[in-house]
Amino acid sequence: MNDNQIWERKEYYRHRRVALFQGNSLNENLFDKEFIDLIVTSPPYNVGIDYNSNDDTMNYEQYLEFTRQWITNCYKWSKPEARFLLNCPLDKNKGGHKSVGADITTIAQQVGWKYHATIVWNEGNISRRTAWGSWLSASAPYVIAPVELIVIFYKDSWKKTGGSKVSDISKDEFMAWTNGVWVFTGESKKRIGHPAPFPRELPRRCIKLFSYVNDLVFDPFCGSGTTLIESVVNNRRAIGVEIDEQYCEIAKKRVVEEVNSFNFEAVTRVKEDPVPYLMEEDKL
Ligand SMILES: C[S@@+](CC[C@H](N)C(=O)[O-])C[C@H]1O[C@@H](n2cnc3c(N)ncnc32)[C@H](O)[C@@H]1O
Repeated sequence: MNDNQIWERKEYYRHRRVALFQGNSLNENLFDKEFIDLIVTSPPYNVGIDYNSNDDTMNYEQYLEFTRQWITNCYKWSKPEARFLLNCPLDKNKGGHKSVGADITTIAQQVGWKYHATIVWNEGNISRRTAWGSWLSASAPYVIAPVELIVIFYKDSWKKTGGSKVSDISKDEFMAWTNGVWVFTGESKKRIGHPAPFPRELPRRCIKLFSYVNDLVFDPFCGSGTTLIESVVNNRRAIGVEIDEQYCEIAKKRVVEEVNSFNFEAVTRVKEDPVPYLMEEDKL
């Protein structure tokens, strides 16, 4: 992606409680109001992944500037009680050792987000365990933690006072997921047809633990649509932005498959809920 590629959004798909836009999350004019209750997202990690429409090989300074821009936009589009669940690397060791997670956390706080906690996701990925540095020698060994972070921020206040106040999490889920070490495997790129999808379990947990039924969930890097799918099946509203048309198509297909088997009539509309932004049924 280069500076000339600042597009306005194009509505790619919409169905009642879910909308997907093809657009660039670096564009601050993509939306013009605060509409988000919960962000669940995984940005590009800048680790040389072969995405169709963005360059995943920026230098580190450029990457941090990219990070600042989209996090600032998300802040502007978020309601005062919004939460922001950011899946990012702990660190990187190729092309210079960097504390990516710590640097992104610092930027988010500079933008205005308040820090709440960090979940460590142990994805059991041993394939990265190939670089040892100096083998069996203290000269320059490498340490690699096969984990990613889900950093939790909020905008103004952590306590939620608005929304439906309906939680749908079970006792077992609540007890397990409030332990901040999450263990589940990653998603297969091949199965999904996207170079870096996260598994459904990740947005599922974030959505059920941190949002109310009918809240609006936003993913500025929607990819194959995993956050949208889990929002729909868990009775939340959802908006996604994805820059690449081919990935939009994958997301659309996955969401369509889910909504076809989803009973919308069974979803209770909550009267006092604020106007669901961009939803056709609310005639904005
Ligand atoms: C790590 S992937 C997200 C994968 C997603 N969580 C899923 O489960 O499929 C990052 C996505 O961000 C998209 N992307 C990169 N730069 C973007 C931008 N400026 N605006 C919107 N999307 C962008 C890429 O095309 C890619 O699909």
